[in-house]
Amino acid sequence: MAPDVDCDELLFFVNGTKIVEKNADPEMTLLTYLRRKLGLTGTKLGCAEGGCGACTVMVSTFHPHMNKIVHYSVNACLAPICSLHHCAVTTVEGIGSVTTKLHPVQERIAKAHGSQCGFCTPGIVMSMYSLLRNNPKPTMQEIEEAFQGNLCRCTGYRPILEGYKTFAKDAGCCGRRGNEAGCCMSNDQEIDGDLSMKLFDPSEFTPLDQTQDFIFPPELLLLDKGACKQLRFKGERVLWIQPSNLTELLDLKSQHPTAKLVVGNTEVGIEIKFKNMLYPVILAPGYISELNTVQYTEGGIIFGAACSLTLIREELRKAMSELPPHQTQVFQAVLEQLQWFAGQQIRNVAAVGGNIMTASPISDLNPVFMAAGCLLTLLSKGGKRVVKIDDKFFTGYRKTAIKPEEILLSIEIPYTRKGQYFSAYKQAPRREDDIAIVTCGMNIVFKEGTTIVEELHLSYGGMAATTVLAQNTSKQLIGREWDEALLQKACSSLAKEMDLDPSAPGGLVPYRRTLALSLFFKFYLTVKRKVAQDLNVQGIHAEDIRDDYASATELFHKDFPSSVQLFQDIPKGQLKQDVVGRPLMHLSALKQATGEAVYCDDIPRYENELYLALVTSTKAHAEILSIDIKETMAVPGVVSFLSAENIPGSNMTGPAVYDETVFAEDKVTCVGHIIGAIVADTKAHAQRAARAVKISYKELKPIITIQEAIESQSFYEPIRKLERGNLRQGFKESDHIIEGEMHIGGQEHFYMETHCSLAVPKREDGEMELFVSTQSASKTQQLVAKALGVPSNRIVCRVKRMGGGFGGKETRSTLLSTVVAIAAHKTGRPVRCMLDRDEDMLITGGRHPFLGRYKVGFMKTGRVVALELTLYSNAGNSMDLSLSIMERALFHMENCYNIPHIGGTGYMCKTNLPCNTAFRGFGGPQGMMVAECWMTDVAMKCCLPADQVRKLNIYKEGDVTPFNQKLEQFTIAQCWEECLLTSQYHQRRKDIEEFNRQNRWTKRGISIIPTKFGISFTAKFLNQAGALVHVYTDGSVLLTHGGTEMGQGLHTKMIQVASRVLGIPICKILISETSTNTVPNTSPTAASVSSDLNAMAIYNACEKLLKRLEPYQSSNPKGCWEDWVKAAYFDRVSLSATGFYKTPDLGYDFEKNEGRPFHYFSYGVACSEVEIDCLTGDHKNLCTTIVMDVGISLNPAIDIGQVEGAFMQGVGLFTLEELRYSPEGVLYTRGPGMYKIPGFGDIPTKLRVSLLRDAPNAKAIYSSKAVGEPPLFLAASVFYAIKDAIAAARAESGLTGPFPLDSPASPDRVRNACVDDFTSLCPPAKPGTFTPWAVEV
Ligand SMILES: Cc1cc2nc3c(=O)[nH]c(=O)nc-3n(C[C@H](O)[C@H](O)[C@H](O)COP(=O)(O)OP(=O)(O)OC[C@H]3O[C@@H](n4cnc5c(N)ncnc54)[C@H](O)[C@@H]3O)c2cc1C
Ligand code: FES
Ligand code: FES
Repeated sequence: MAPDVDCDELLFFVNGTKIVEKNADPEMTLLTYLRRKLGLTGTKLGCAEGGCGACTVMVSTFHPHMNKIVHYSVNACLAPICSLHHCAVTTVEGIGSVTTKLHPVQERIAKAHGSQCGFCTPGIVMSMYSLLRNNPKPTMQEIEEAFQGNLCRCTGYRPILEGYKTFAKDAGCCGRRGNEAGCCMSNDQEIDGDLSMKLFDPSEFTPLDQTQDFIFPPELLLLDKGACKQLRFKGERVLWIQPSNLTELLDLKSQHPTAKLVVGNTEVGIEIKFKNMLYPVILAPGYISELNTVQYTEGGIIFGAACSLTLIREELRKAMSELPPHQTQVFQAVLEQLQWFAGQQIRNVAAVGGNIMTASPISDLNPVFMAAGCLLTLLSKGGKRVVKIDDKFFTGYRKTAIKPEEILLSIEIPYTRKGQYFSAYKQAPRREDDIAIVTCGMNIVFKEGTTIVEELHLSYGGMAATTVLAQNTSKQLIGREWDEALLQKACSSLAKEMDLDPSAPGGLVPYRRTLALSLFFKFYLTVKRKVAQDLNVQGIHAEDIRDDYASATELFHKDFPSSVQLFQDIPKGQLKQDVVGRPLMHLSALKQATGEAVYCDDIPRYENELYLALVTSTKAHAEILSIDIKETMAVPGVVSFLSAENIPGSNMTGPAVYDETVFAEDKVTCVGHIIGAIVADTKAHAQRAARAVKISYKELKPIITIQEAIESQSFYEPIRKLERGNLRQGFKESDHIIEGEMHIGGQEHFYMETHCSLAVPKREDGEMELFVSTQSASKTQQLVAKALGVPSNRIVCRVKRMGGGFGGKETRSTLLSTVVAIAAHKTGRPVRCMLDRDEDMLITGGRHPFLGRYKVGFMKTGRVVALELTLYSNAGNSMDLSLSIMERALFHMENCYNIPHIGGTGYMCKTNLPCNTAFRGFGGPQGMMVAECWMTDVAMKCCLPADQVRKLNIYKEGDVTPFNQKLEQFTIAQCWEECLLTSQYHQRRKDIEEFNRQNRWTKRGISIIPTKFGISFTAKFLNQAGALVHVYTDGSVLLTHGGTEMGQGLHTKMIQVASRVLGIPICKILISETSTNTVPNTSPTAASVSSDLNAMAIYNACEKLLKRLEPYQSSNPKGCWEDWVKAAYFDRVSLSATGFYKTPDLGYDFEKNEGRPFHYFSYGVACSEVEIDCLTGDHKNLCTTIVMDVGISLNPAIDIGQVEGAFMQGVGLFTLEELRYSPEGVLYTRGPGMYKIPGFGDIPTKLRVSLLRDAPNAKAIYSSKAVGEPPLFLAASVFYAIKDAIAAARAESGLTGPFPLDSPASPDRVRNACVDDFTSLCPPAKPGTFTPWAVEV
């Protein structure tokens, strides 16, 4: 327990208002304080680990050592409230508002369509605001860097950058919006007259006027100039001490040797939150001047241990500009590491000392410091000592040689000298803001005027439990010539020395070992080149490297993205007030940008509200022996523990079949299975108590992987089959037959807003009101009613908006809402819960992993004749929607190709993973991905260009699918031709071949991929929708329909439709929310059909109203809408109408293979070009061209937003995102730290999106088409471009023909597939001889 002490007052400012907090709790973060204490809910919680940027705010403080006011962005989720004494905090609410004045940063992101669900928007706004506050005319690079710590799951980032480009001084490409010479798009085709590229008009933007910004509070300036004193803040469990000087700090450290020093809290904060650590005494040395100084010495630069990484970056850049290059090689290496170190918000607060002292084996700085032999000064009350960071400094996993009573005072980073060369490399799954897989610093000194090695230090992170030096290898190389023979020696020695156990934590063992060698090879080449240059200047001959090896010496660099979006303009003569077809901004975008949009957890707290925390299983398959809640009930504020026995109705639940429990009773069937829940007065208390519940289990053997399920024949029924033609005959006719398989990994939804529910009991008749972040209000209502044992009419479910859904909130939201409702029922009090990101990822499932096994028969021409396919999905521990998902995978198994003889069988594997569920594309992408795999094999086997083979097999108008549906209005041919032309495919292909001839270690690849996506719920009954339209006597209209808004712009489109039908401007129409008491029995907002269905229902209701108003309009033709409405009212005409729609001619029978599963299809084609680094497996998305058929777009801005957002989500799925499970079924990847969704840096450098022109769709409202899911699969073009590049790399090693590549094409898979001498030195261990750290599920 923390000692008893008197507490100081914490004084800081928020948005210009002074706050004096008498009871500052050291355990409370700024984010909690803002949201809960101040009600400033604009700042969002997305992850609580500094990895998403949703919580970004700006902190301003007077920096006594720099003697100036500094402004910087920080993650409020990691900033302890106690660290803010005498600081000024600015939140999104502080810079502008829709009701007063918008800040240009808020206005531009909204108007440029950079806000869809809006949950990331305040954080992005604040990152940009902080940048501009320091630098009103930033460069594009500075803008990109400012966003390294921000994620967005909806937009695909392009529109955000596009909007903010308008602040940049070097905006470069005009996106063809201007006529500047040298525009990167100037080679493209001319744009026809009725096409438009103008999604927004920058001339409307308010100029940036910094005189409107808050000034730094003068009171703080005065206070800071006053005497400093020690501060103490004490909470329930922790004492925070801020010593005023170094002597005090050393005294305190000797009194409390176990006390934790905290500077940026970016490491300690994570330990407390996610590793359940408790540090009763915290010492905050951030303000002590000796720990903040920067000092130039003869040997290098000394940085105080509390210097932030941002400050170090600035100093090193300055030093580099002033000193000769041979002196600053270590500085250059540190800067290279810092370029890819976390995001800006973290770098602004994280201290160099914190990185060293954490002693993480994958620290990015420690290998550099170790290779450079940096000196550390350690201090204690007893004195000072200086130690070198060498192989003795890190004594074990996260341990150092520093004594408990010591502190780190400073680090000296040395200068280099002539004849010395230094490099650093980091390889991570994602370039930006990611933790390294392998990271290293390499330092060599040559004997003067020679290429003989005098000194060599190779330091690696990610190759052991600590940062290590390859001592043996270095020893063997001393005295040798820097040549090919040395390289061979080094590699064989490193392969032995940098060995890893096949079961090593982190997995990817062959890859990590290969990387150790490959990175050395890069260093070897880089040094050889530099030495040659330097010696040649001195007149000494030294051999340079081969020209085709040069690109291996280049550090990762990507140009700033540029883009073009093209769409068909509205027809000439369309009325001004008719907004259908116009690129109207998302109607909530401005509120989202100011933080005023209300999400579920932003609803103000009820007075007697409780918070709920879940108690979940830690075992994948086990019997529950006992549950002990003794310690739990002793936690302050705890009100109740809930389990199966508290359920008044039924414990059985599930969206399609009732095969799940609300609370596990005797048995758990996955890690994360909900066993119970705690309700308490605060979130902190509820979570602490939940952690204190002790459960004992008897473990049973789990089934985790698809492979294990196949071996145990663990499948859900039914096993689906879809067949057409005669397979046997097809294979007989074929010239070639290939068999193969492909595994496609799962995907986490990573909606920025996690699941959230608030249940409010109504006291009468068992009524309850629920506010839920769900795509399915009716399912929520139904399952809550079932669990509570009341009729559905007692339950109202309300949904204002979601911070993203993507299918993840279609059914799995009911898990939480049911538990929360039971808690509200039991306690009679409102209960709320918003899952933490780690819980959300653990519990709620994601996209199904799939295994596809295929046998494909084809002719020498590449014409595919027969396909036999078996699909396996990892469904998890309950059915959920797995059957429909498997059906859709089978419906899409041929993608766009006409295969005369085809048969597919689908097995849903029953495993002990959390149940997988709907995710954008709903099985379709997995089915199509396997199709493109065998299509690639066919092209490779026939030695024909892949585009030619694809085109040869593509359907034609009127062809029939394997499920006997005729393809009408089939636009793939148009999309294909336009995409080929605008991507300049054939020219690119030639350029790529030339590039690949000239580069041995970087290769480029290209691929063009079509997609066809069936539109309709495959469950026929779901294809219905309702609407309710009220017209009030003032003429305003309240519109309600069955769909929910999750950022996809549904409400905006629905208002556009209603506005056209009623002939009134959109400002008269409001959609307030979706609720079960206005439109009942709604289908989930899913399957891309919500616009189609709900718009028709709205149309139907509005038509009824128009008909009723018609007499009043005829009798008063010169009157206006309000006149007619009033007249109708006085005439006692109902001004409220319901609307209904059901999709005609649907219904498919699997047994008979007849009937129509889909109303129509959406089509698209994409072409992507990539570049891979064959030595690291890294890739760059160079260029993507997309042509998408969305019919006649209702709103091109929203549709292009959907295309780009879906495409980037697909890029994540196929190239980046990986859920990693232990063999026992424990999910490792539970947050943005380990699970990487695409960031700003992952978008293609050139992106061109065009909506197919002149393609009206007769089957949907105003000739439009569904767009939400279909474009996702187009990202497969990136995957197959990578595969194309790998094929070029393999050809260098003499390997040709088909080869396997599972999805995602992560760096390790890419590197392992680029077989060469390095990979052969690091072969994988024999399967079955070890237990891997992670398994492919
Ligand atoms: C989202 C995110 C991304 C990250 N990305 C990276 C990355 O790319 N690469 C990487 O290497 N790391 C990364 N980290 C880790 C972390 O940011 C760094 O280790 C950082 O430098 C820690 O500094 P801090 O001031 O926040 O440390 P704190 O959390 O305040 O402290 C960390 C540890 O250092 C000790 N300590 C601090 N100062 C002293 C001192 N003067 N004397 C003695 N002990 C001291 C503390 O007691 C504590 O044990 C990331 C972290 C997050 C949250
Ligand atoms: S919530 Fe703070 S970074 Fe994600
Ligand atoms: S708009 Fe960025 S996460 Fe939804």
